[in-house]
Amino acid sequence: MFKCKTSAEVGGMGHSVKRKEDARFLHGKGNYVDDVKLPGMLTMVMVRSPYAYAKIKSINKEKALAIPGVLAVITGEDLAQYNLHWMPTLLSDTQMVLPTDTVMHQAQEVCAVIATDRYIAVDGAEAVDVQYEPMDPIVDPFKALDKDAPLLRPDKEDQKDNQIYHWERGDRAKTDEVIANADVVVKERIHLPRIHVASIETCGCVASYDKDTEKLVVYLTTQAPHAIRTVVALVAGHVGLSEEKIRIISPDIGGGFGGKVPVYPAYVVAIAATFLIGKPVKWIEDRSENLVNGFARDYHMDCELAATKDGKIQAFKVSTLADHGYTDSSANPSKYPTGMFSICTGSYDYEHAFAELDAVYTNKAPGGVAYRCSFRVTEAVHAIERMVDKLAAKIGKDPALLRLENFIKKEQFPYSSPLGWSYDSGDYEATLKKAMDMLGYDDYKKEQAQKRKEGKLMGIGISTFTEVVGAGPSKDFDILGIAMFDSAEIRVHPTGKALARFGTKSQGQGHETTYAQILAEELGIPYTDIEIDEGDTDTAPYGLGTYASRSTPTAGAAAAIAARKLRDKGKKIAAYLLEVSEEDIEWEVGKYFVKGAPEKSKTIQEVVFAAYTNIPPGMEPGFEATHYYDPPNLTFPNGAYICVVEVEKETGAIDVKRFVAIDDCGNIINPMIVEGQVHGGLTQGIAPAMYEGIEYDDEGNVLNGTFMDYLVPTAVESPHWETGHTITPSPHHPLGAKGVAESPTVGAPPAIANAIIDALAPLGIEHLDIPITPAKVWEAIQAHS
Ligand code: CDP
Repeated sequence: MFKCKTSAEVGGMGHSVKRKEDARFLHGKGNYVDDVKLPGMLTMVMVRSPYAYAKIKSINKEKALAIPGVLAVITGEDLAQYNLHWMPTLLSDTQMVLPTDTVMHQAQEVCAVIATDRYIAVDGAEAVDVQYEPMDPIVDPFKALDKDAPLLRPDKEDQKDNQIYHWERGDRAKTDEVIANADVVVKERIHLPRIHVASIETCGCVASYDKDTEKLVVYLTTQAPHAIRTVVALVAGHVGLSEEKIRIISPDIGGGFGGKVPVYPAYVVAIAATFLIGKPVKWIEDRSENLVNGFARDYHMDCELAATKDGKIQAFKVSTLADHGYTDSSANPSKYPTGMFSICTGSYDYEHAFAELDAVYTNKAPGGVAYRCSFRVTEAVHAIERMVDKLAAKIGKDPALLRLENFIKKEQFPYSSPLGWSYDSGDYEATLKKAMDMLGYDDYKKEQAQKRKEGKLMGIGISTFTEVVGAGPSKDFDILGIAMFDSAEIRVHPTGKALARFGTKSQGQGHETTYAQILAEELGIPYTDIEIDEGDTDTAPYGLGTYASRSTPTAGAAAAIAARKLRDKGKKIAAYLLEVSEEDIEWEVGKYFVKGAPEKSKTIQEVVFAAYTNIPPGMEPGFEATHYYDPPNLTFPNGAYICVVEVEKETGAIDVKRFVAIDDCGNIINPMIVEGQVHGGLTQGIAPAMYEGIEYDDEGNVLNGTFMDYLVPTAVESPHWETGHTITPSPHHPLGAKGVAESPTVGAPPAIANAIIDALAPLGIEHLDIPITPAKVWEAIQAHS
């Protein structure tokens, strides 16, 4: 009845099959949160503060409420009646839902206007009369710890100054000693600027409470629907919202990049509004609201790298000041307030390291989101990769050679890093050599020498990064106490077609295709016969969501193991159907057969049919399995990126001539999707390297809150990305796969920065902070000529 197919024919692992989700996206049939329209739905618009720091003297709602169609104006005082005016952040700090007395950053939500349509709501928001008493804001994080700095968070009982916490890892004394006695020490203060994830779809929700069923349904652009459900239950449980009555539906998402993990104040207000008014309430953030709220990065890192005179790295020290805005709403695992920053020792083999960090409050928007990065890995990689290049320049050694001489060798894995990680696998030398070959590194070095003789500015920059992705393990990683694992549930229907559900949530990464490919490989069912479903907490198994490249390492593994449970069940059924013992049954993709007699076989479809129609005596009917996967370790992808630039002396214009990216993410599920991930990630790497940065004036005003001023690179600004890969399987992942999505965003900025600084080196320029814009380059050239 059924014909068996090969791995390639079913679209299994390693095949570049077309993305199943693309038909709906290309035909404009994606279903985003703003597409959700419910009967009687109202619209909410936020009134926002023009000041960075001000007392609220009064809020007068009268004029707004007089506008026909405006139904309510909700203030912090209104929420305070239900104790809903503050909420916890993911890192156990507290954040205002709506203020009752003070605003802490420009564009903070002050109150919400609910109306019958958006036009009326906007008019209503303009008609609300808020009287403020402005105060002097703290904009510069270095001034936040001054003795006479105003205390920004007097609401927190134990808060005596503006320091949020101090964190450190490693042996300070030993590291200092090695640095003090080293032949060569290079030092630099490196700033990774405040940037925005700037996803094309802004944040938004539709909250709908049904008084009869007492059920709250929230359509939400969230990367972590289950975690949000639990947070809503914890925050709003006291007003009668218990977890079984809360359903979070995350529809299609137009880019998340970490910015759609947190709970934003407007979500809570929309939920409160539907609860009070009894009608669905939609809130969709506009572009400027999106650009002035939330942020990623903003680390000021004082780095020191010590080495012998011939370039053997001996120690690395980094002391960081982190600007968190007025609350710490970083989306980090709770035991890792600085995320995975301690990966900062990089791809190199040395013993001594020390990292410390002080986080401070300022009058800026909170956020600290993991922008396409495992919680602060971008910062860590930028620090070490810039410093390695600085060392190479100082001792006059080729930066590629310096790296090759210092790499952790492939036989040293699993490798215990100086700050406590156990790197699972890698072959850094092979990855860099492949990148050098693909580029033609030696030829470019010769060309550069020639160009320098002609007075031209050409630079070659390398970044050889080690990544850390796939949180859990749950013993170490949790968010608000919820253990970080992930899940897969597979239902194979009697006709051999399947539905599989996951605790993760794709935002464009292609999970509907790649998860189906994993199941196709494991079960031999064509990937086109497998529906993938994510994002609805009423149907999907509990999981911690998709961010920080964790889907493949966690839910991907869960899919493989759940499928293997089914394969084991199938083996018993096949033995029964073929009238042999289970030990005599062997498996190849899509087919069980009798050892030594391959013509006696049953396809997976025949076996599944029997699970519903001809069940072996005593066996539980059906063909379904679930697995919750708690990874034993993270996965450690790596990459070698090389960038070639030319800089025009007269204007500071930077031309990226070549960019070669070799990634190693272990075994690959879909090479085409991985290539797409790398292309997108590299573009989000050139973004902070050359274009993006949120700027403030001394009053705390955001200076670039629109896409006119905040340049997000497009295909026009992007060079031709040249990609390739090496494969070092993860030894602990059931498929040997590692995550990949964030690697390019993490690895690209230092390669580009290193290339530009290398181009400028003949002028005596040793460092520039990103974004390295033509204006910044021009100024540096003027200062050095
Ligand atoms: O968590 P997120 O989906 O953002 O990141 P990921 O696990 O790195 O996966 C990104 C996309 O690349 C997914 O569609 C994966 O299935 C795919 N991928 C792959 O095909 N092979 C790998 N080794 C890693 C990821």
